[in-house]
Amino acid sequence: MKATAKAHTNIALIKYWGKRNEQLFLPTNSSLSITLDRFYTTTTVEFVEGEQKDVFYLNGELANENEQMKITNYLNLIRDFARVNYHAIIHSNNEVPTSAGFASSASGYAALAAASVKALGIETDGKTLSQLARRGSGSACRSIYGGFVEWQMGEKEDGSDSYAVPILNEKDWDLSIISVMLETKPKKILSREGMKRTVETSVFYDGWLRTVPNDLAMAKEAIAKRDFEQLGTILESNALKMHATTLGANPPFLYWHSGTLVVMEAVQELREEGILAFFTIDAGPNVKVITLPQDEKKVVSRLSQLPEVQHVSICHPGPGVTYL
Ligand code: PMV
Repeated sequence: MKATAKAHTNIALIKYWGKRNEQLFLPTNSSLSITLDRFYTTTTVEFVEGEQKDVFYLNGELANENEQMKITNYLNLIRDFARVNYHAIIHSNNEVPTSAGFASSASGYAALAAASVKALGIETDGKTLSQLARRGSGSACRSIYGGFVEWQMGEKEDGSDSYAVPILNEKDWDLSIISVMLETKPKKILSREGMKRTVETSVFYDGWLRTVPNDLAMAKEAIAKRDFEQLGTILESNALKMHATTLGANPPFLYWHSGTLVVMEAVQELREEGILAFFTIDAGPNVKVITLPQDEKKVVSRLSQLPEVQHVSICHPGPGVTYL
């Protein structure tokens, strides 16, 4: 009853921003992401008969109580799903260094869902796996697949129609995704908390919800046509609209730092010089810049020269879940 799975991080081009059901991780809007090649989590799950509790090792070390509890809560869902009551020993290794500016929750829960189900010998399709990963962290449901992926929000109250679907294979359109880490220490308002406050209080939240269906349709059309300018224009504007909702919340908050603006301006300047580059930002101050592979070197060199920038990592579209 042992299996190992590997899942990669993803970056949203059309953001998931808000839940309609906190417990089931059901979103208020559909979203779209690219799974990335360089950063991933590898997780081995072994269910052991007679074991009294789950034991979780993260990067080779016994995880703290808080982490142990999160994993046990998550494995309780898997045990309910599989109708078993074995506990497990879990070894998880993150190739998602904090210096890369990506959260490990997407790859982490995608790998954990896949390894757990496989260890229990249950045959699942991508849809079921995506739904299971979603219950650990919303964005994890998209990391089941490689390349360009849409998370369809669904309408049902039980979440049975809320899961990710692949849109385009990673081999079918190469883009460069450059993660730009800033010198500042981020003040943490976790995505979970930021979303909740925004949904409950932001005067701009209705505007966000009205805008997503069209952004998503335009992004999918751009992907189908491989029209990078259209995709870039939409993804940048979608990120700005997501962040605008935080300014209308009560109390208001903002994920950006001064360095965030410096990078945003540099990207706009690159565009004025004829280089197609666009930015997106998640629930933190760091920026991800998307460009075409032929312009990658120029963009990296310009961004690395900014004094506010600490570290730059380059990614390309990557694969979905694999089993080792
Ligand atoms: O799934 P979470 O809780 O990590 O939330 C992700 C939220 C954003 O990164 C801001 C957007 C997204 O779609 O990934």
